[in-house]
Amino acid sequence: MILNLTVLGGDGIGPEVTEQSVLVLQAVAERFGHQLQLQPKLIGGAALIAVSDPLPADTVLACLASGAVLLGAVGSPAFDKNPGHLRPEAGLLRIRRELGAYANLRPAVFFPTLEDSSPLRAEIVRGTDIMIVRELLGGAYFGQPRSIEGEPGARVAVNTMRYAEHEVERIARVAFDLAMKRKKKVLSVDKANVLECSRLWRDVVTRIGKDYPDVKLGHQYVDSAAMLLVQRPTEFDVVLTENMFGDILSDQAGGVVGSLGLLASASIGGPVGLYEPVHGSAPDIAGKGIANPLGAILTAAMMLRHSFQLEQEARAIEHAVSTVLSAGARTADLAGKAHPAISTVEMGRRVVEAVKKAQ
Ligand code: IPM
Ligand code: MN
Repeated sequence: MILNLTVLGGDGIGPEVTEQSVLVLQAVAERFGHQLQLQPKLIGGAALIAVSDPLPADTVLACLASGAVLLGAVGSPAFDKNPGHLRPEAGLLRIRRELGAYANLRPAVFFPTLEDSSPLRAEIVRGTDIMIVRELLGGAYFGQPRSIEGEPGARVAVNTMRYAEHEVERIARVAFDLAMKRKKKVLSVDKANVLECSRLWRDVVTRIGKDYPDVKLGHQYVDSAAMLLVQRPTEFDVVLTENMFGDILSDQAGGVVGSLGLLASASIGGPVGLYEPVHGSAPDIAGKGIANPLGAILTAAMMLRHSFQLEQEARAIEHAVSTVLSAGARTADLAGKAHPAISTVEMGRRVVEAVKKAQ
């Protein structure tokens, strides 16, 4: 199979971790007889510097013409004072929209070998296997109007949280379909005691849930869900939630399983899938060679699974990651007394070796 990818390294640690995920993909392609075709393109701060646009037109065209898009991270404090549409993040939101990627799947799985890395006691976190299904094209991220106006000292800012019924319906179906292949549990997270958007959300999710009588549907307010996520993480299976709540809860889930650096994600639903680790650009550690590439590497596995239906290849990557972690490989975010830290490149190299060695 020819795997035709657009690669958007982006900002901060994005290029470093993406480089490692591409090396792992190359190893998988060799082992299973596929061919990688890579087209690097600009996004975010890197694109702002080059062409003053966080999402140049030729990046969009390349993405739309490829089989899948592999993205590193977007965001840089250098542009903090820019107006909204000239911030790196605007490029990320636009590519999500251009690709129609409304369903953001963010698994948070606890690796048993990382008991010392989670801030939670082993007996609390052991067995955690959560799939956060985050709506990605609606809510306050995209709602109009949005503005910041007035003179300093008397400014007023406005954002709009907005959801249409069909937007809730389609993401709910993604969550229920996934639950059918898992433990058949969906927890829908909202703030229906305060927000109209959430009342509509709960209503529509309940209605769609009737089409899935085998799935146990629960509803939880987001504040309470945040507490339960650290108190009893193993009780979660599929978490279905809107854009901003999903953004927040997925970082929290990263903390629960030991490091945000481990989390992968797939943004699907449109004609071309977009694959990005959850962690972001982490400017404080960029360029130091210490970032954890496993989130990006596991993201490549999600890409093989969801965009190319290469389940065996996806599992080969996931298995290789478990193998190196079990053998004690730890980047700085996971390292401790028992396991000193290795570099980004060394972690990538070990995963490549594990992919090559596996039967
Ligand atoms: C994420 C990130 C993005 C988001 C930012 C960089 C716009 O935090 O993918 O979780 O909020 O969606
Ligand atoms: Mn985030």
